Amino acid sequence: MNTAVATDTIDTSFIPRDPVKDSAQEAFNKLTETVGTPTVENAKMRSRGVNVFYGEKQAIFDVDLDIGNNEVVAMIGPSGCGKSTFLRCLNRMNDTIPSCRVTGDLSLDGEDLYGADLDPVLLRARVGMVFQKPNPFAKSIYDNVAYGPRIHGLSSNRAELDDIVVDSLRKAGLYDEVKDRLDAPGTSLSGGQQQRLCIARSIAVSPEVILMDEPCSALDPIATARIEELIDELRQNYAIAIVTHSMQQAARVSQRTAYFHLGKLVEVNATNDVFTNPQHELTENYITGRFG
Ligand SMILES: Nc1ncnc2c1ncn2[C@@H]1O[C@H](COP(=O)(O)OP(=O)(O)OP(=O)(O)O)[C@@H](O)[C@H]1O
Ligand SMILES: [Mg+2]
Repeated sequence: MNTAVATDTIDTSFIPRDPVKDSAQEAFNKLTETVGTPTVENAKMRSRGVNVFYGEKQAIFDVDLDIGNNEVVAMIGPSGCGKSTFLRCLNRMNDTIPSCRVTGDLSLDGEDLYGADLDPVLLRARVGMVFQKPNPFAKSIYDNVAYGPRIHGLSSNRAELDDIVVDSLRKAGLYDEVKDRLDAPGTSLSGGQQQRLCIARSIAVSPEVILMDEPCSALDPIATARIEELIDELRQNYAIAIVTHSMQQAARVSQRTAYFHLGKLVEVNATNDVFTNPQHELTENYITGRFG
């Protein structure tokens, strides 16, 4: 039975038009350049003219964005606007998606991320990633953290490896809670502890940049506050990019905020300015909750 409805024959003129959406769509269509300051002087990571395609479909359009040393850049925007896609460009995680193609220039300390002599495995140690859902390996707490240092040969004996594991767990603010059960499975920890374990695991290989894709979305407010404190501490040593759906979180943890919309980077500015004085109508609509 064919139940398809020919939508072009349905009269929709009785549905009132939403003037906010109409004007926002117009503002989006007109958008040719990011509003604000996407670049910084002490950039750790640079992106210039980055486009990302999944097959024929373009998901990111001509994005320029720097992530500076010792700063947290928050990436916000409606679901499907390309935040995760863009974040994954920064450590070449998109390489693992067969249909995905990235063009444009991306660099880490001036070194081309897509250069012929750059090893993506080493890059992912330099640019660590923490995902939305904590994903500890089916190994002990100790072995989760020791995994990267072992693969990359960062220690020459057990005592050195112990030091790296303890130090990483301390930096992730988890050591005191797990020091008596390092042999217990990582999966036996609570969600918030597992997320800190995953942060310890990424810190253990001494990364230079940490990418976080909604790291707190599965956590309660107490665990979230702990991770946010940690992000602020980590900023002293790393460059950090965090994707979040929580505008309060972006406001609390980041120094700069980037607003994405349908694959375009609409606005980047100091976080305080974005939230108190957004320059673009689309940003304003989003942060005031008019859509997204
Ligand atoms: N593996 C994939 N294959 C094909 N299309 C994809 C893939 N991953 C993402 N996309 C598409 O790319 C666009 C951006 O998706 P992305 O996951 O980057 O958005 P997002 O801003 O992270 O959304 P959310 O807030 O829901 O996590 C969407 O249209 C999505 O459908
Ligand atoms: Mg996402």
